[in-house]
Amino acid sequence: MIMEDSQVLRAIQGRRSAREFLDTPVEMAAVRRIVEAGRLAASGANRQPWHFVVVDDTTIKHNLRLICEQAEREYYERADEELKEWFVDHSIGPSKPFLETAPVLIAAFFDPHAPYAIPSVWIAIANMLLQATEEGLYSLPYTPSRARLGPALGVPEGYSVAALLPIGHATRPARQPRLPLSQVTSLNRYGVPFLPD
Ligand SMILES: Cc1cc2nc3c(=O)[nH]c(=O)nc-3n(C[C@H](O)[C@H](O)[C@H](O)COP(=O)(O)O)c2cc1C
Repeated sequence: MIMEDSQVLRAIQGRRSAREFLDTPVEMAAVRRIVEAGRLAASGANRQPWHFVVVDDTTIKHNLRLICEQAEREYYERADEELKEWFVDHSIGPSKPFLETAPVLIAAFFDPHAPYAIPSVWIAIANMLLQATEEGLYSLPYTPSRARLGPALGVPEGYSVAALLPIGHATRPARQPRLPLSQVTSLNRYGVPFLPD
């Protein structure tokens, strides 16, 4: 294993997406550090084109779940066959119970008119996922299919939602496979091996 003394790499290796959460509460101090990791992310022209809504209210979580599931049902009906098969293999369907069972949700919004808005907000999301791991918590970059979540959270017109991150404790999910280093890297020119796996 390379760079095993690296704290960041340890968090990257330890991160897993969780879709089932325990009802153990989450400390707000930990959530604060998670959004802090998002706040400090790099962004195009340093525009910081994001707003993160932390949701711990049961009724609001329930409402978000209803909105997302309605949009998901429409999305799953339209999905192509290959994607549908992947969803079935991974037990992913239109039902999103984690939006209620996770004690906290972080809704990551962004201003789509800012330069490099989408990569910027996703860098912030990646930071938050890693900080959640560092806190001993689990999350998931759930991308609500065309769900209009802004109005339910009082977010001003003009913001789009990038992801909803459920945050909570979970039984450690299995590691998902990754392509080997040799397949995804080259040295100087495509196809020239960088380093052996
Ligand atoms: C941009 C992006 C969008 C994703 N959207 C969803 C989603 O809507 N629902 C879901 O269950 N997982 C979603 N995921 C999670 C991926 O399925 C997951 O990261 C992948 O299967 C690898 O598993 P791991 O995160 O445990 O390593 C998304 C991940 C990314 C990076």
